[in-house]
Amino acid sequence: MTPSVRRHDREFDLILWGATGFTGQLVARHLAENYDWDVLRWAIGGRDEVKLAAVREGLGAPDLPVVLGDAHDQDKMAALAKRTRVVCSTVGPYARYGSELVAACVRAGTGYCDLTGEAHWIRRMLDAHNAQAVETGARIVPTCGFDSIPSDLGVYFLQREMQSRHGAPGPRIKGGVARLNGKASGGTVASMLNLLEEAGNDRSVRRILVNPYSLNPEGKRNGPDGRDRMSPSYDDDFRKWTAPFIMAGINTRIVRRSAALMPDLYGPDFSYQESMLTGRGVGGALKATAVSGVMAAALGALSIGPIRRLIAPRLPQPGEGPTPEEQKNGNWEMRFLGGSSGARVTGDMDPGYGSTSKMLAESAVCLALDQLTVGGGFHTPASAMGNILIERLQKNAGVTFEVIE
Ligand SMILES: NC(=O)c1ccc[n+]([C@@H]2O[C@H](COP(=O)([O-])OP(=O)(O)OC[C@H]3O[C@@H](n4cnc5c(N)ncnc54)[C@H](OP(=O)(O)O)[C@@H]3O)[C@@H](O)[C@H]2O)c1
Repeated sequence: MTPSVRRHDREFDLILWGATGFTGQLVARHLAENYDWDVLRWAIGGRDEVKLAAVREGLGAPDLPVVLGDAHDQDKMAALAKRTRVVCSTVGPYARYGSELVAACVRAGTGYCDLTGEAHWIRRMLDAHNAQAVETGARIVPTCGFDSIPSDLGVYFLQREMQSRHGAPGPRIKGGVARLNGKASGGTVASMLNLLEEAGNDRSVRRILVNPYSLNPEGKRNGPDGRDRMSPSYDDDFRKWTAPFIMAGINTRIVRRSAALMPDLYGPDFSYQESMLTGRGVGGALKATAVSGVMAAALGALSIGPIRRLIAPRLPQPGEGPTPEEQKNGNWEMRFLGGSSGARVTGDMDPGYGSTSKMLAESAVCLALDQLTVGGGFHTPASAMGNILIERLQKNAGVTFEVIE
C-alpha cells in the first residue's frame, strides 16, 4: 500500500458530517474501532448537540471533538470545511442538504466524499464547481457507497487486469449483480422519493437521469451506450437471464465517467451495461420477468405525486434501517465480464449499510491520509483512489476483488 502521509496543515484529518444518522453512526463506529487518534485526527459533526453527545458516549470516546452546524448555514459550512483535510458526509438526501457543504469544500480546497446516488445533483454540483475545485485542489468524490464503489472499482480492476494480461483494455464490459442480501434505510427511501419528486417537477432533471453519459465531462457526452434497459432479457455472455438493476442508473454513469477521465486505461468507445443476474432456465426467466415487472410498477406508482404521498409514511423513515443482525447476515457479489476475462467483487455484510459504511469510511481515510496522485476536481472513486482504495477495502472493509476465468 502507498505509505500514508501525516500533515498538520489543518486541525483535523477528517470530519464525519451526519454522525447521528443511521449510516453516519456505522461509519463512526468503523473509524473508532480501526483508527487511533495518533493515526487519524477526526471529529463528528451534525446539527444536534445532544444526539452527537450520545453518539460519542456510545462509541466510548468521550474526548472525540464535535463540530456543530446546520447543513444550510453557509458560514458554518465554510468554517467546518476550513478545519479539516477531508469531509465525509452522510447527510442526505444530498440534493436537499448537500449543496452548501460541497461549495464550501471546493472553496477551501478540502477533500470530500459521500454516499449520494443522485445523478442530477452530482451534475448540478459538477457544473457549478468543477473548475474551481481544479484550481483549489479539492478532490470531490461522490458515490462512495454500494453505489457506486463495487461497479466503479470492479470495472477498473478488470481493466487493469486486461491491460496487464493482453496489453489492451476491454472495450465492452458487462456488470451483473449475482447476489444481494440486504434492506433499505429511511434515508435511502427519502433520497429516492426526493429524486422522483424532482424528476416529476422538472424536465431538465428527467433529461439528466435518462442520459447514459450525463456525468461525463463536457465534449465527451456521446458513446456506444443507449438508455437503460427496463425489460428482462437473456445474456449470452453471462449465459443467464437478467433483469434491470435499480442502481444501474447511477453506477453506469459513474463507470462511464471513470472511462472518460482515464481514456488510456479504458480505451476509446468504451461501453458498460449493468443488470441483475437472475439465473438459468425457466426459473431464471420467470425471476427476470417478475423483478422487471415489480420495478416498473413501483417506479410508475411512486412517480405519481398523490400515490407517493400515500405510500411514503408506510416506508422506512429517516433514522431507521436494517438491524445489526440483518447487516451481519447480509452479503453481495458482483461479476464483470470483458471478452475472455472476468472479475468478481464481494462484500461480507449487507450492501446498503454494513458494507457501505465501511466503504465510505475507508474512502474518506484514503482521501485524508494516502498519497494520491490526482489533483482537484470532481472524481469517481476509481479516478481519485483506484488501486490504493482497492487495497484498503480488501484489508479493512471485507470487500474482495478477484479475477475469474
Ligand atoms: N450509496 C449507498 O449505497 C447508500 C447507502 C446508504 C445510505 N445512502 C444515502 O446516505 C444518506 C443518509 O442515509 P441514512 O439512512 O443514514 O439517513 P438518516 O438516518 O436519515 O440520517 C441523515 C443525517 O442527516 C442529518 N441531517 C438532516 N438534516 C440536516 C441539516 N439540516 N443539517 C445537518 N444535518 C442534517 C441528520 O441529523 P439528525 O440526526 O439531527 O436528524 C442525520 O445525521 C441518504 O442520502 C441515503 O440515500 C446511500
